[in-house]
Order: sequence, then C-alpha cells, then structure tokens
Amino acid sequence: TAVEWEAEAAEKGGYEHFMLKEIHEQPRALRQALTGRVDALSGDVDLDLGLPEEYLQSLEEIQIVAAGTSYHAGLYAEQLLEELADVRVTTHVASEYDVGGGRDPWQTLVVAITQSGETADTLEALRSAKASGARTLAVTNTVGSTVTREADETVYIHAGPEIGVAATKTFVSQVATATMLAVALGRTRGALSRDEASAVLDSLRGLPGAIQQVLDREAEIEAIAQEYADREAFFFLGRRLGYPVALEGALKLKEISYDHAEGFAAGELKHGPLALVTDDVLVLSVLTQGSNPEATLHNVAEVDTRGAATVGFGEAKGDGSVLDHSFSVPEAGLLEPVVANVYMQLFAYHVARSKGRAIDKPRNLAKSVTVQ
Ligand code: G6P
Repeated sequence: TAVEWEAEAAEKGGYEHFMLKEIHEQPRALRQALTGRVDALSGDVDLDLGLPEEYLQSLEEIQIVAAGTSYHAGLYAEQLLEELADVRVTTHVASEYDVGGGRDPWQTLVVAITQSGETADTLEALRSAKASGARTLAVTNTVGSTVTREADETVYIHAGPEIGVAATKTFVSQVATATMLAVALGRTRGALSRDEASAVLDSLRGLPGAIQQVLDREAEIEAIAQEYADREAFFFLGRRLGYPVALEGALKLKEISYDHAEGFAAGELKHGPLALVTDDVLVLSVLTQGSNPEATLHNVAEVDTRGAATVGFGEAKGDGSVLDHSFSVPEAGLLEPVVANVYMQLFAYHVARSKGRAIDKPRNLAKSVTVQ
C-alpha cells in the first residue's frame, strides 16, 4: 500500500536502497562499535570478555567458524589475531567444520562470527565445539539471538540493524571488533607492547574517517561501474589481508548483480584462473598496506598483458602502465584493506543498480539462513 511504501522510503533515509544507506552508515556504525571500548592513549581495550585472564594467557588455539561475509571477516580476523596476539588461528566455513582431534579442547577457544546470530550452519558448528569441551565466544550484531544464548560469552559488534541481504556495514564492524579482540588478547598475552597496541588502536579510531574519504568518491566509482558493467566476468585479487577482501568484493558483486565474479589469492592466478582472463574481463585488486601490493602488481601485469581491464585500490601503482584506474586508500595501517573494501561495495552496488537488479533482496538469497 501507499502507506507501507512511504514508511519504507522513510526508513531508507533518502537512499534508493537499504544497501546504499548501510554502506554510507559505516563510519557511524564503527564509532558505535568503538564507543567506550578503546583507549588509544593507554593501548587498552575493554570488551568485557568474561573469559578469565589465565585462560586467555594459556590459550593455544582459536578456531573461527562462520558463513558468507562473516567467514571473510573471520579470515581477516585470523591474520590479525596471529599477528597481534601470537596465537594459532584457523578459520572454518561453518558447514565444513569438524572439531577434529589432536588438540586440547580446554586450550581452544571457538569463535562464532555471525551477524544475525541465527545461521544454522554456524550454530551447529558452535554446538559441536561446545560438546567437545572447547570454550565458545559469539561475535554478533543481534542482541538476544540464538548464538548469544548458546555461546559461553558474547561480544557485540554494535553495527545497528542491517536490512539489505548483502552484508556491508556489519563486515567492517566485525573486522573492527576482531581488531579490538586481537589487541586485548595481545596485551593480556604479553605479545603486544603498549606502544604497539596504541598504534593499532589509532588506526582503528581513524577508520571511520578513512572510510568517509572513500564514500566521498562514490561518483568516481559509479562511473567505473557504468563503464565496465557489461564485462563477461570480474576477478578480484588480493594477498595477505587483501585476500579476504578480494573474496568479499567478489561475493558482493555476484550476490547483487548476478554477474560472474571470483576472488583469488593473487599468487594463485597463475595456477589456473589465468586461463579465464580475456579482454572481456575486469580485474580489481587490493594494493594497500598489509596486502603485499608489490607482489600483487606482478599479477596485475599478467592480466594486463592478456588484455583485461584493471582497477587498483591502494597507494601502490607500479610504473603506471598496468593499472587502467587507480583509487587511493587513506592511511589506515592493518585496516587499509577493509577501507579498500568500501570501494568494492560501491562498485557492486552501482553495477547492480545499472542493471536494475533487486539489490536489497537478490533472487534466491535470504538475510539469515536458518536451515542447514
Ligand atoms: C546469508 C546472508 C549473507 C551472510 C550469511 C551469514 O547467506 O545472505 O549475507 O553473510 O548468511 O550470515 P550471518 O548472519 O551468520 O553472518
């Protein structure tokens, strides 16, 4: 009805789609996630974890279980935790999780990352971890969701409600929460000095502003999206922290535009995917700090030679001949790849919009999948 239609338009706050509104809400969502938790001066983080200090100090392993976009946040979190907290981390697609043997469940923390807190695959993985004797921690956006009742402890990402089926602001809020977790753990475990912690927390505090700078360039990325929307396929490349972002960039595009999009570890390109590269392909790469951009640029050169069009996100540009388009990413330390991701969200949105897709409710997909 007209009344319902008007109510929905009001909820979208002037944006054409919830997805675009949520992309633009990222700086605010992040500020909410950080409020009252981070003291950059002292290098302290207060997540109110509820896990004993001695347990965190002797922890041998973290296993992350998640699905979809949350899985990509998990892959990002894995690298942050290993680097900042000196702990062994493995990340599992929830539906493939197998508790396995050979480790002490008492020294293992299983972290379920789930926006909705209701994903059946993730809940099932969490239950089997619990049954094996591991401690469990939920990282979620949804107060009172099933995962919060089943996990031993919960940390909220405080992103606010997300309506668009394609996850956007919750991805960056998950990564920000993982960063806080990694710093808190790193401090508790003596893996991180106060100064090192302060530096990471400074990047975190600068994240909303860095993302705003990318959002301010929406018109430029929209122009690129329109120029290349009809390409046969889209490949996203990244290394290190840029790899989960490449996966996420491709997932966003395929979800809402229905185009063929794949994310690859840039170094794997030559082991197969290169056969798919033609002059009808667009290759988008993460070329920020923390993603080994110099090495990735070699891979970009390989696709450029084969006629593909290329877009790079980050300061690295090589000699200027391999990238058709380059978008700078503001300084954000280990969080630069997740800033680059915002360009990819906007790219996916504008490709899908130019094709008239049902952006907030893509065909065959659901916001929360409660069946296995
Ligand atoms: C569905 C959604 C995805 C989401 C995934 C995991 O497939 O369409 O956007 O990433 O579930 O959801 P969760 O709520 O567990 O993060």
